[in-house]
Amino acid sequence: RKPENCAFVIFGVSGDLTHRLVLPSLYNLAAENLLPEKFCVVGAARRAMSNDELRDSLLKGLREFATRPVDDVVAHQLLQCVTFVEADSKDPSSFETLKKHLDALECSRGTGGNRLFYLATPPAAFAPTARELGRVGLMKEDNGAWRRLVIEKPFGTDLASAKALNAELLKIMDEHQIYRIDHYLGKETVQNILVLRFANGMFEPIWNRNHIDHIQITVEERLGVGHRGGFYDATGALRDMVPNHLFQLMSLVAMEPPTRFDAHSVRSEKAEVLSAIQQPSEAEALKSSVRAQYLAGRIGNADVPDYRKVPDVRPGSTTETYVALKLMIDNWRWAGVPFYLRTGKALAHKRTEVAIKFKQAPLSMFSGTAVDRLSQNFLTIGIAPTETIELQFNAKIPGPSVTIDGVEMKFRYGDYFKADPSTGYETLIYDCMIGDNILFQRADGVEAGWQAVQPFLNAWKNAGSNGIETYAAGSDGPACADDLLRRDGRSWRKFT
Ligand code: BG6
Repeated sequence: RKPENCAFVIFGVSGDLTHRLVLPSLYNLAAENLLPEKFCVVGAARRAMSNDELRDSLLKGLREFATRPVDDVVAHQLLQCVTFVEADSKDPSSFETLKKHLDALECSRGTGGNRLFYLATPPAAFAPTARELGRVGLMKEDNGAWRRLVIEKPFGTDLASAKALNAELLKIMDEHQIYRIDHYLGKETVQNILVLRFANGMFEPIWNRNHIDHIQITVEERLGVGHRGGFYDATGALRDMVPNHLFQLMSLVAMEPPTRFDAHSVRSEKAEVLSAIQQPSEAEALKSSVRAQYLAGRIGNADVPDYRKVPDVRPGSTTETYVALKLMIDNWRWAGVPFYLRTGKALAHKRTEVAIKFKQAPLSMFSGTAVDRLSQNFLTIGIAPTETIELQFNAKIPGPSVTIDGVEMKFRYGDYFKADPSTGYETLIYDCMIGDNILFQRADGVEAGWQAVQPFLNAWKNAGSNGIETYAAGSDGPACADDLLRRDGRSWRKFT
C-alpha cells in the first residue's frame, strides 16, 4: 500500500541522523516503490545552502550509509524531490518563509496539503521548533489534510522534563499527530515479540509467575562513547537506554494481551505494565541497581582509553557507562518475578537479547545423574548480533546410563526469511506516512518509563560518586552486576 501524497520536512537536514538513517531509509522506500505517488522532501536547517549543495551532501551520505547498492536512477529521482529552506526557531520570519515554500511546493508538486515534520535536531530544538510550527499554523489539520510531527529521542531527561515536553506539544497539536520514535520498535525481532507471544498458543499459558522464574534483558555494546562525549556525559547509560529501548523490550514481553492489534490497545497495555513497575525507596533503589564507568582496556585489536579521557567528558565525571537494575512489576501476572536489566558501553560483545528463564523442574527422580550439567530452561529472543529465538532444554545423552545434558534449539531469522538489509527506520517512516502510530510512543508510555527510572536517578544523585563502580573496557562489565543476581541465587545467561 502506497502512502498518501505528502511533503516530508526534515529539520536538522544537515545533521548526522538525516545522512545516516533518514535519507537511506527514504531511499530504500523509494527502491521498493513505497513512497507516495506525489512526494517532496524539504530540508530545513539554520545554515543556508542551495538546493544543489543539499542534494550533493545527501547523495554523499547515501553512498556512504545506504544499506544496499545505490541505483543512480532511484537516487536521482528521490533527490530531485528535495529542496532547501532556512529555518531557525529564533527567527520567526523563517517559519513564515517555510510555510510559503510548502504552499508553493504543494501547488507545483501536487502533494495535496499533507505534511510530515521530522525533528532530526538536537533535543533542545524540539519544543521551540514545535512552537514555531504551531504559531504559523503549520500543525493545524484542515480540509482533510493531515499534519504530523516526528520526534526523536531523548524525549526529556527525567519525569518532569518529559511531562513538560508532552504538555508543550499537546498545547500545539493533538496526540494523534505526534510520532515519538524509538528505533528499537523498527527492529523486526522486537516487533516479533508480540507475534511470538500472541500468535502462538503454547507460550501464553505459561507466561506468568507460576512458570517463569525471572527475565533478563541485556543490551551490551562493544562501542565506547566515541565522539559523543558531551551528550553522553550529560546523559549516562540509564537515561540513554533504559526508559526507552530497554523498556520497549520489557513492555512487549510483560504487557497483557491487547484486545486488538491497533495503536490504542497496544499502547495502552504497554503503558499500563510500565506504570506497574514498583517504585523503590532510595535505599532499595541503591541496593537493586549497579552503575559503573569503563576504564582503559582493549576491545578486539583496539586500545580504548578511560571513559574520562573521551573528548568533552568532564575529568572527574561520575556518569555511568553501564547500568544494571532489578525491577519488580506489581501486578497479578508478574508478582515476585524479577526483571533484571543491564546495558553498557565498551564491553566484550555486542549483544541484545531478552532471556526468559522458566522455573526449574522438580528433579528428584534424576538425582544421581549429572545434575550440575543441567541446562536452565531459557527461552531467548536474540536481537543482535544475530536475530534468533532459542530454547535451552535438557536431553538424555545416548548410552546405557541416564545422564542429562543441556541442548538447544535455535531459530535464525536469516535462515528462513530473505529480507533486504535495512536501516530499521523504513517501517517507522512508512508508518508515519500512512498514519499508523502503533510503533510509536504515546505520552503516557513515555511518562510511565521515566516514572519507573526516576527513583534510581534520585538515589544516584543523592549518593554522588558513592557507589559508582568501574570495569575494564573489553570486559563483561563490573563484577557487582553479577552480585545483583547472585544475591537472589541466580546468574546472567552466558553469551553463546
Ligand atoms: C541509541 C543510543 O539510542 O541507541 C546509543 O543513544 C546506542 O548510545 C544505540 O548506542 C544502540 O542502538 P542499537 O540499535 O545498536 O542497539
